[in-house]
Amino acid sequence: MPSLFDPFSLKGVTLRNRIAASPMCQYSATDGIANIWHRVHYTSLARGGAGLVTVEATAVSPEGRITPNCLGLWNDAQADAFRPIVAAIEAAGAVPGIQLGHAGRKASANRPWEGDDHIAAGDPRGWPTIAPSAVAFGANLPQIPRAMTQDDIVRVRDDFVAAAERARDAGFRWLLLHFAHGYLAQSFFSTYSNRREDAYGGSAENRGRFLTETLAAVRAVWPADRVLAVRFGVIEFDGRDDETVAESIDLVRRFKTEGLDFIDVSMGFSTPAANIPWGPAFLAPLAERVRQQTGLPGSTSWNLGEAERANGLIRDGKIDVAMLGRPLLANPHWPYAAALKLGIEKPSWVLPAPYAHWLERYRPE
Ligand SMILES: Cc1cc2nc3c(=O)[nH]c(=O)nc-3n(C[C@H](O)[C@H](O)[C@H](O)COP(=O)(O)O)c2cc1C
Repeated sequence: MPSLFDPFSLKGVTLRNRIAASPMCQYSATDGIANIWHRVHYTSLARGGAGLVTVEATAVSPEGRITPNCLGLWNDAQADAFRPIVAAIEAAGAVPGIQLGHAGRKASANRPWEGDDHIAAGDPRGWPTIAPSAVAFGANLPQIPRAMTQDDIVRVRDDFVAAAERARDAGFRWLLLHFAHGYLAQSFFSTYSNRREDAYGGSAENRGRFLTETLAAVRAVWPADRVLAVRFGVIEFDGRDDETVAESIDLVRRFKTEGLDFIDVSMGFSTPAANIPWGPAFLAPLAERVRQQTGLPGSTSWNLGEAERANGLIRDGKIDVAMLGRPLLANPHWPYAAALKLGIEKPSWVLPAPYAHWLERYRPE
């Protein structure tokens, strides 16, 4: 079985190791345009030794941003701002990836460190939200969204396609569709948020339709030699998990038929009433099940960030790639620290060559 530091190849893409920077919103853009902070942040993650660096949830339309400060990819100025970031990630030896999403009923929110709640009605920074049905998330996000029309569904799908084309042309090689965390796509699948009575609501097949149609439309423009991945919330932890997981796995099989290459297993976050059993690598058994039952290579995140743990999950064949979030914020050189800890033969060589040579005989104290 491979280890954390073995390369991972899929389609025409090879990661130098199996450590991926999970997408993490920086809530630091103006007009959706990446700036010097994003360049610093993503360059650091790549320089630190990760094999894949995934740019944070990037909105396919203005209304699809979580906050006014989220990144976007609905115009060419936004695409142009990504080009130096793509180049920097590649110069540091990592593969550039990006997550595309639409926040649905969780859009128009304040930044986490400024309240994490909906922007108050009447505040010019906010905007009306859309969702499968006019049902609010509740708790900190009380705004009632407008139920999408058939035209809205087609428009948002086309927005995903246009953003994927821009991501492709900007040079990203790993595209992660955000079908998780209670945002628009997840909210089509979830019965908490989808009360539709048309072809997009009701049965699991109907609730999955917006997701499969969007995926198929994106696949048609996303090059065959690059990776198309989905982050999907396969479980809610709400006491109805057997049914939700079974429906989710069926849907991932349909994604595979539509051309999905890789599945990242996450949570639904569709209800504030969920009771999540936080713990070390608590989603890994589920990721293994999805991987086995769909035959797709996959990953998960959430508390994998200890070297032996992440390595063990790869070695045991539970996941192919370890997605790390907060551990890489705490230390972008986590891959190097993990290589030292695991005693791999040439730990410094997980870093780019201009660093690696000097660290070959030097050990940080
Ligand atoms: C600051 C921050 C921003 C995040 N933004 C996103 C995001 O844009 N898209 C996403 O799918 N998950 C997002 N997440 C979740 C992470 O990708 C990851 O799944 C989560 O942090 C669990 O991994 P960890 O335990 O290694 O941190 C975010 C997490 C953090 C801490």
